[in-house]
Amino acid sequence: KSRMGSHESRQNLIIVSNRLPLSIKRVNGAYQSSISSGGLVTALSGLTKSTQFRWFGWPGIEVKDSKEREEVVKSLDEHDATPIFLDKGLAHEHYNMFSNRILWPILHYQSGVIYEDGPWQAYRRVNELFADAVADAAEPGTLIWVHDYHLMLLPELLRNRLQERNKSCAIGFFLHTPFPAGDFWRALPVKRHLIEGLLSSDLIGFHTDEYKQNFIDTCASNLGARTEIPNQIQYKNRLVCAGRFIVGIDPQKFADTLQKPEVQDRIKTLEDRYKGVKVILGIDRLDYIKGLTQKLKGFDSFLDDHPELRNKVVLIQVAVPSREDVKEYQDLETELCTLAGKINGKHATPEGTPLLYMHRSVPFTELTALYSVADVCLLTSTRDGMNLVSFEYVACQDKKKGVLVLSEFAGSATFMRDGSIPFHPANTTEMSEALYAALNLEPEERQRKHEFLRDFVNTHTSAKWGQTFTEKLAERCRQRKKPC
Ligand code: ADP
Ligand code: F6P
Repeated sequence: KSRMGSHESRQNLIIVSNRLPLSIKRVNGAYQSSISSGGLVTALSGLTKSTQFRWFGWPGIEVKDSKEREEVVKSLDEHDATPIFLDKGLAHEHYNMFSNRILWPILHYQSGVIYEDGPWQAYRRVNELFADAVADAAEPGTLIWVHDYHLMLLPELLRNRLQERNKSCAIGFFLHTPFPAGDFWRALPVKRHLIEGLLSSDLIGFHTDEYKQNFIDTCASNLGARTEIPNQIQYKNRLVCAGRFIVGIDPQKFADTLQKPEVQDRIKTLEDRYKGVKVILGIDRLDYIKGLTQKLKGFDSFLDDHPELRNKVVLIQVAVPSREDVKEYQDLETELCTLAGKINGKHATPEGTPLLYMHRSVPFTELTALYSVADVCLLTSTRDGMNLVSFEYVACQDKKKGVLVLSEFAGSATFMRDGSIPFHPANTTEMSEALYAALNLEPEERQRKHEFLRDFVNTHTSAKWGQTFTEKLAERCRQRKKPC
């Protein structure tokens, strides 16, 4: 069944995440699906080329009527996806209120802890509903791979339910966000439950060594777990392994898309439009962790510092709508609109505006064309699990060899430092200098940096990430008592 060549691949694989690869919307009375955006979907979609799996998750919409549910189940089944239906109110409390208003800020070092019991109860309930659905569907011996902070209680709940059903399965977990230093995590009132929930996994994966070590240290300080042996957590008769697994993209998908005639036409149109103008590009979900406010302020400062570059440089910023029911995201949207207007008001001339701020999602072909024509990609995350946009820009720059200006706080900066220009996102002077340096980099240095990044992106693909994780998970399952 599986397309993976290895021994382990013959095991069934179930992926569980809050978001499915397709989001369902109701348009004029009919259900329509569209590809979901975000790093998790990009990474797991890259894995589909080499590995077959069934994907369980929330369809993104409430469907009450049983006939309509069947319709949604059928349309998702064609994509090997199984929906877990949630009532609107419960989904709101789980996704918006607990996962994104309480957990997300802590995972990303935002100060000021918000906590309410209602959303916490909803979070627990949703994790239970996921556990029921997956435990029913899993056959003995299945590898179950749970993803992200929306489902941190799931490994423990699932382990219990599988035991009740006499099914033995391996459970893995991957966190797509940072895991903060223990002292930060400590501020969350329900921290202990979440860590205990995760410790029923056989293997827990992180983007970087720093996140992994923060988690291990937290298990020791919060729970008294034994952690003397590297990458190993001994807790209540369980031996849990923690590891770093570098997530990536499918670079071939970008290479293939770049070859398409419509994309080549679009690139030509954009190149003509920006003849004599250097293009700086930003692609981000509209999220405060992406440092968009800082980016616009840094660009304003850059324009102040370099009046000679007026009309010779443009920042194209795509801010993909995200989590629009959460207050902090709504406030950010208003702030960015105001800031964008101010910057253009200050620096525009009859010849043009320096900032193109687009608050919408763009089609994949347009995204690829934008990556290809950009002289510089500017990413300003204040914290970010990995940041796959940095990988995608590199994958589209074989011709131009543009420069990546990358915040030191993106997870990808851990691996891409030598091939990019790093800076601190809150320091507008540093950002302005980094931009200027990028626009003036010597061709040999651009070539060197690009080759370094290209090799990294090509050797750390999403397929490799998934295969490495699932193979390690299967191995753990065969030898649970063996040191990690
Ligand atoms: P995050 O997971 O926080 O959103 P990443 O940078 O890791 O951040 O991943 C963002 C992903 O979303 C990238 O793979 C990017 O290509 C994808 N993306 C951006 N815009 C769109 C879009 N309009 N449609 C689909 N995917 C998109
Ligand atoms: O990077 C963390 C993450 O939650 C990813 O798992 C996801 O792809 C992205 O942010 C977008 O999140 P959401 O599912 O809320 O749109």
